[in-house]
Amino acid sequence: MVQLLPSILSSDFARLADAIAMAEQAGGTAIHVDVMDGHFVPNITLGPPVVKSLRKVTKLPLDCHLMIENADEFIPMFADAGADWVGVHYEACPHLHRTIELIREHGMEPGVVINPATRVDVLLDILPMLHHVLVMSVNPGFGGQKFIPFSLEKISDLRRIREERGLKFLIEVDGGVAHETIASVVKAGAELLVAGSAVYSGSDPVKNGRELLAAAQAADATGAR
Ligand code: DX5
Ligand code: ZN
Repeated sequence: MVQLLPSILSSDFARLADAIAMAEQAGGTAIHVDVMDGHFVPNITLGPPVVKSLRKVTKLPLDCHLMIENADEFIPMFADAGADWVGVHYEACPHLHRTIELIREHGMEPGVVINPATRVDVLLDILPMLHHVLVMSVNPGFGGQKFIPFSLEKISDLRRIREERGLKFLIEVDGGVAHETIASVVKAGAELLVAGSAVYSGSDPVKNGRELLAAAQAADATGAR
């Protein structure tokens, strides 16, 4: 089943509680939280103290997308703050297996994120340990970028590998997911759909989110894959 994960990166950071309420009203089933450190990616956003505040205003899972170096150092702090799902970048974690174990040991669901230039194959051995794989369909760092079409092949590769191996990880996509692209990512096999600017730009995020979710559900129902 497809799920919409509004990314609060594109919301007004002075009104995060409102952004979360709108995400819930739109039918969002988890909140995507973009954590950037100014090293791994050329932008800085938020960290555990903000996650702790978000935890107080929603019961939805907080899907923390860590675009940071030294993820191991911060995992305990994200656990204390109330994060539920933690995605770390393949490109930023030299000891990925250890990092995944650390996330699990802290009671959170681990995911691995791959940049557009990273092949799905590098994840083969670690897939059985994962709650989700996040395919970046833009280069991470900013909202509002254009969807990179070859990401679709990665999504369908993951879907095929999951079926062939009888695995359970969820397939997430992030970047440029909008009205024009959402049907194609669903048809390729993605089920966790992150959308930032497509939800929060304009005057009616709730309407935007509902329309996106409806389009995703319609594409899912057609079933072509
Ligand atoms: C980008 C972030 C995304 C971002 C997506 O580095 O990982 O989650 O919010 O924004 P849109 O949906 O506008 O491409
Ligand atoms: Zn993200």
